[in-house]
Formats: sequence, structure tokens, C-alpha cells
Amino acid sequence: MKQEERHILVIGGAGYIGSVLSRKLLHKGYKVRILDKLIYDNNCSVSDLSEEKNFSFMYGDFGDDVVLNNSLKGTTDVVLLAALVGDPICKKYPDLAKKVNLEYPKKLIQHLTNKSIKRFIFTSTCSNYGLRNDDTPAEENSDLNPQSLYAETKVEFERYILDNIKSQDYSSTILRLATAFGISNRMRFDLTISEFARELALGKELLVFDENTWRPYCHIADISEAIIKVLESPKDKVQGEVFNVGSNKENYTKKMILELIQKYVHNPKINYKLGGFDPRNYRVSFNKIKNVLNYQTRCTADESIKQIINAINNHLFSDVEQRKNFYGNYYLDMNY
Ligand SMILES: NC(=O)c1ccc[n+]([C@@H]2O[C@H](COP(=O)([O-])OP(=O)(O)OC[C@H]3O[C@@H](n4cnc5c(N)ncnc54)[C@H](O)[C@@H]3O)[C@@H](O)[C@H]2O)c1
Repeated sequence: MKQEERHILVIGGAGYIGSVLSRKLLHKGYKVRILDKLIYDNNCSVSDLSEEKNFSFMYGDFGDDVVLNNSLKGTTDVVLLAALVGDPICKKYPDLAKKVNLEYPKKLIQHLTNKSIKRFIFTSTCSNYGLRNDDTPAEENSDLNPQSLYAETKVEFERYILDNIKSQDYSSTILRLATAFGISNRMRFDLTISEFARELALGKELLVFDENTWRPYCHIADISEAIIKVLESPKDKVQGEVFNVGSNKENYTKKMILELIQKYVHNPKINYKLGGFDPRNYRVSFNKIKNVLNYQTRCTADESIKQIINAINNHLFSDVEQRKNFYGNYYLDMNY
């Protein structure tokens, strides 16, 4: 099927990753429909796309059967990004997190059958590895050890997809994304790299817990390319597969991230403390996606940190305090 004949439904496409992915898909000639409930008042992240002939936006909740069925009309492929994303917001709204991250996705899977859907891509997280007992990088078949409700919901839905794979008349792929960084139209300053870079660039004092804990990072443009790679790869390479998304070189401790930031911010005020509430500590191997899909990342944390600090110093994000809820997944304003 030619690209221009494929109509991709991006659920949660107005978010941090989705607003980058949707632009890339349009640029490549795909038709794109976003279904999004705009729970962070994030309409401006995609409003300019309304002028694109291959683009449509549907406001609504993917947990609503009528909305979902309407959004699926004419769709050839589905990317599920919508979720309550991150440990803090899931902890704050646990019942809602279980609904949006688990109940609705399970319902979605049922809706996709008999609709001539080709590919379904679920964005899971490397947080599923949680706390590793040894120093080796986690591979896709390594034990999962979720440390939060957020990761628990992701692990459970992954399992649900794989357990029900035989009843799916489309190809499902699970992507476990590294922690994202980079500048998006729906910018998030609640993620490690952007949060640390912003706080220190503004001369604030930063309290960092457990600075020697590891985590992998990946730029939102590279994450989007991985999703497109799955859409474009032969079915037998991706069907029923799980891939970690990132690069072996982009595993860092928090201290290493801070060292990169210190290249661009002089005399940063950093206090280190042990015993934080987030026990995650994991390094991840990205060999499988490289070897099977010939996938490689292009952007580095170092370059992105420089760009974020430059943008902050030049007042491109001077409204973060006034629009806190737009710039991060801190709380929900609306009646969800
Ligand atoms: N950002 C990261 O570091 C990261 C890392 C690993 C995995 N992921 C995964 O990638 C996906 C996207 O993450 P993000 O950072 O872009 O998140 P985000 O919070 O910026 O975007 C989520 C989008 O989903 C929408 N949404 C939420 N509930 C909805 C509902 N019921 N119906 C319709 N729309 C709804 C929101 O309005 C928002 O636009 C998530 O599934 C997340 O778990 C993200």
C-alpha cells in the first residue's frame, strides 16, 4: 500500500511526542487523523495543522465507543500514544490512570478487529524494567520490574496485547520508549533533561535525588522515526514484537546529564541527596531495534540540552510558570 493511501490515526497525537510524530507523518505523505481530548489545554500544539489537506483533528475521548468508531472510519493504521503519562500524574489520579492506561486500551483492541486495520503500535515505556538487580542493560525479554502504577498499567496492557495476539486481524507492535527529550509544540518541562536544563539555566537551585541512578533517553524526533519505521517495515519483522526504542550510547545517570548541562550553564546550583521516592535504576539495550529494523537514532542528549538552554535564555519559554499545566503532566484542570 502506498504512503498516500495509508491513513494513520494517532490517538493522543496532540501531546509531546504526538505533535512531532504527526508532522513527520504528514511530511512523508501519509494522511493523518489525530484523536485527542486535549487534557492539558494543548490545542495549540496542532491547531496550525488544520490547514494541511491530509490532516484532520477529532476532539474526544478514546474511551468513548461512538467517538472511537467515528475516528476509525477510513483508518488503515493506529498509533496509541494517549495515556496518563508519568508516575506523578498516575499517582495523583490512580482510578483514572487505570481507566485511561488499561481499560480504554483493552477496549480499543476489540474495536480494531474487522476494520481492515494493518498496523497497531502501542507506545509502552522502558520504565517497565524499573529496578534492575544487576548492571547489565535490559533486553526485551528481561524481567519487568515496574515501580509505579504508571509502569504497572503499561506492563499489564503489553501482556494483554500479546495474550490476545491470535484474535487480532492486524499486526500489533509494542515499543518501549526511553525517557524522551527535545523541543515540541507541546513542550514538557516535567521530564528529567528538560526540567534539569530549565531549572539550572534560570539560575534556580536544583535538588537531585540518587544521582547515580541510570536511565536511557531518546529524542522525540527519533522516537517518531521508530514509530514510522514500524509502519514501514515488513509485517513479519514487527508483528507481535516488542522493541526498546533508543540508543545504547544514550544511557546516562542523572549525574552524567548534569555534567552535560554544566557545559552550557556556568556555576549551576545543584544539591545531591540520597533516598528519593523514585527507586528506578535501569540501563537498556537497543540492539534488537538496530539489528532487526536497521534503526539508528540521530539526536543526542548533549545537542538537545544545548538547544533547550539556548531557547530558555532567549525567552522562548518565558510563560512556563503561567501555563504550568500545558508544560507538563502536573494536574488535570478539566472534568475528565
Ligand atoms: N514522554 C516520555 O518520556 C515517554 C517515555 C516512554 C513512553 N512514553 C509514552 O509515549 C506516549 C506519549 O507520551 P507523551 O509524552 O507525548 O505524553 P503527553 O501527556 O504529552 O500526551 C498524551 C496525549 O494524550 C491525550 N489524552 C489523554 N487521555 C486521553 C483520552 N482519554 N482520549 C484522548 N486523548 C487523550 C492528551 O490530551 C495528550 O495530548 C504515552 O503513551 C507514554 O506512556 C512517553
